Amino acid sequence: MIRTENLSKVYGTGEGRVSALKDANIRIENGETVAIIGKSGSGKSTLLNLLGRLDAADEGKIFYDDTEITALSDSDSADFRLNRIGFVFQFFDLLPELTAAENILLPARLANKKAENYQRLIDSLGISDRINHYPSQLSGGQQQRAAIARALINDPDVLLCDEPTGNLDEKSGDEVMEMLLRMNREQGKTILIVTHNPEIAAKCGRTIRISDGRVV
Ligand SMILES: Nc1ncnc2c1ncn2[C@@H]1O[C@H](COP(=O)(O)OP(=O)(O)O)[C@@H](O)[C@H]1O
Ligand SMILES: [Mg+2]
Repeated sequence: MIRTENLSKVYGTGEGRVSALKDANIRIENGETVAIIGKSGSGKSTLLNLLGRLDAADEGKIFYDDTEITALSDSDSADFRLNRIGFVFQFFDLLPELTAAENILLPARLANKKAENYQRLIDSLGISDRINHYPSQLSGGQQQRAAIARALINDPDVLLCDEPTGNLDEKSGDEVMEMLLRMNREQGKTILIVTHNPEIAAKCGRTIRISDGRVV
């Protein structure tokens, strides 16, 4: 379960001050697929980044089951992020100087884990035959599938996806979406997907709408 209490984030100061997220209270059960929708600039990425501890909240609390991650030290929250959360981004964010295989295995190396699910993951994501290619040698869809494998290599409970199909053509986007949903069905992963595509949102079990920094 992921739960927030009055989660708020402000960027900038003075004239440039932006209240990006205001008193967000959400609750997501384990094994749910949830779309986070809203206009550009409404605070979707801010919410996701706070949930993933890629950014720190100004106020409020975040719980993963009984763990209040907003109370963890920097090093404990880095550990938590590495082991319990997987991230998928719009522009894939693979390291260009590493092969797909090296990118996928990097979080396991950082966590000193064995990556026992490596072969199963790359087979199931259909990227085994491209695994020694560099990101620049892969299509967008293949890069995103490698990024999904990287997100899952440490077997996290939760996948946080920010516009995962936003930079893909429709067919590749549908494939990526189907793979994310399969990881939910087959492995019980909790999946949050930021999107402004209503068709993507409709494939999720539930929708959280954000408008001007508020969950509505
Ligand atoms: N690092 C930042 N510095 C300053 N303002 C930011 C930063 N990140 C986001 N914002 C502002 O916060 C608001 C919400 O942004 P964001 O969460 O990225 O929206 P969305 O993902 O829904 O498009 C926007 O007004 C955006 O300009
Ligand atoms: Mg965004």
